[in-house]
Amino acid sequence: MEPEIFVNFKHYENAVGKSCEELLKDFNTLKNKNIYYCLSPIDLRLKTEFTSLNIFSQTVDANGYGAYTGSISMESLIDIGVNGSLLNHSERRMAKSDIIKIIEKSKKLDFKIVLCVESLDEVREYSKYDPEYIAYEPPELIGGDISVSNAKPGIIKNASEICNDRNIKLLVGAGVKTYEDVKNSMNLGAYGVLIASGIIKNPKPINKLISLGNL
Ligand code: G3P
Repeated sequence: MEPEIFVNFKHYENAVGKSCEELLKDFNTLKNKNIYYCLSPIDLRLKTEFTSLNIFSQTVDANGYGAYTGSISMESLIDIGVNGSLLNHSERRMAKSDIIKIIEKSKKLDFKIVLCVESLDEVREYSKYDPEYIAYEPPELIGGDISVSNAKPGIIKNASEICNDRNIKLLVGAGVKTYEDVKNSMNLGAYGVLIASGIIKNPKPINKLISLGNL
C-alpha cells in the first residue's frame, strides 16, 4: 500500500502567502493523489487555483456561518473546495466538547477530519467518535530529528490495532525526515505520515518530498 503523506505547511515564513503559492506550483508537478497539503488559513483560497491538489485546512471550528469573528467554518471551506482539515494539532489544541461536535458535523457534511492526538490514551478515547483519520504525534518530538517510528514503535503498533478495529486511518508524525522513517511507520501499521519541517525547512522542498515519499 502506498502511504498517504500529509505535508503541514504550519506558519513557516517560506510556506505562507506568496511563498505558499510558489511551493504549490512546484508540488503541482507531482500529480500524486496520495499527497495532502495542509495550508495556513490565509492561503486556503489557493484551492481555487490548484484544483487538482488535495488541500486541507490546518484547523476548523465547530460553528457554521454567522457572527463568529475569526472563525473557519466547515461550510466556508467546503464552499472553496477544501474538504478536510487537521484538528487539535499540538500547536492548536481544542476542547474535547468542540472536537466531538466537529467530528459529528464532519460526517454529515462528508468532510474529512484528521484528528491529532498526543498519546495512546487519546487514541483510545477519540477513536470512539470515529474520525476519518487519527494522527498520533508525540509533542516532544515535533520539529526534531528523532522520528516517531524510532522513538515510539510500540505505541504506533497499539494505535494501529485500535484504529484498524474501527476502520480509522492512522497517521503518525513528528521528526519524520526520510523514506526509511516513512517505511518503518507503515511496517508498524500506519496508513500514512504527517510531516512539516522535514520538507518545508529543506532548501529544496520538492526534492525532499520526492525522496521521502519514494515518488
Ligand atoms: O503536523 C506535523 C508536525 O507537527 C510534525 O512536525 O516538523 O516534526 O515534521 P515535524
